[in-house]
Amino acid sequence: MSDFEGLTALVTGGASGIGRATADLLAERGARVAVLDLDPSAVDEPLLAYRADVTDDASVRTAVADAVAALGGLDVLVNNAGVGAQGTVEDNDDTEWHRVLDVNVVGMVRVARAALPYLRVSAHAAIVNTCSIAATAGLPQRALYSASKGAVHALTLAMAADHVRDGIRVNCVNPGTVDTPWVGRLLGAAPDPAAERAALEARQPTGRLVSAAEVAGAIAYLASPLSGAATGTALAVDGGMQGLRLRQAAR
Ligand code: NAI
Repeated sequence: MSDFEGLTALVTGGASGIGRATADLLAERGARVAVLDLDPSAVDEPLLAYRADVTDDASVRTAVADAVAALGGLDVLVNNAGVGAQGTVEDNDDTEWHRVLDVNVVGMVRVARAALPYLRVSAHAAIVNTCSIAATAGLPQRALYSASKGAVHALTLAMAADHVRDGIRVNCVNPGTVDTPWVGRLLGAAPDPAAERAALEARQPTGRLVSAAEVAGAIAYLASPLSGAATGTALAVDGGMQGLRLRQAAR
């Protein structure tokens, strides 16, 4: 497909996992793509790389302006940078709550704020936020992370309403557990990584983790000019985890 031919895109958190798969896919489908990341050292051609911390407004503004200058405009923003957090409300102190919300929620606001003036003048403007099944299903030991992604879901709807008349579509994807370096780190920290992986796989009706490429495909669908009627939607990419209720398999 070459639906992104002639378009430009910026992917935050694009140096790893879902963001990297998305940057690669958009480039394959014809876009000129820039990545914004804390550590973009592993990002190579044809992707452009910009170092920025989404919690630092000045670094975001500089990186977005530099990326747009190099790309020659901006049509697609993929707001994907995010961090995890584990535990119940008793397990994280105020500092950790502020840190995670600052990256996962305010980070998206900062990047969108810097990108909107450029998106307004695009004929095919789209923002896709990486949300999570944690926004729509109660998952154990994820109070802070879920609160952050619930906010991303609500933010997506509000932004879609605010900017629909600017011609900017805003949507999000809600992945289940995705096989990325992030989940690799989680498994590595578990007492029994193989058992933890099996439990995560069993939680998804497809019986396996989602791949980063599958989430990238959903992000590209929402960002594509072919999806001009899709705005204010949350697309689940979770192996059926949110929507299906299976009976136990017959033995
Ligand atoms: P990852 O850890 O492989 O990649 C995240 C990238 O974001 C890294 O390159 C990291 O350097 C960058 N990043 C982190 N903090 C940043 C900051 N302050 N400023 C700039 N860049 C920063 O993670 P993964 O799994 O690809 O996650 C990407 C997004 O997908 C996150 O928003 C996450 O919440 C979401 N997600 C992940 C799921 C999973 O199971 N892996 C499931 C549902 C959602």
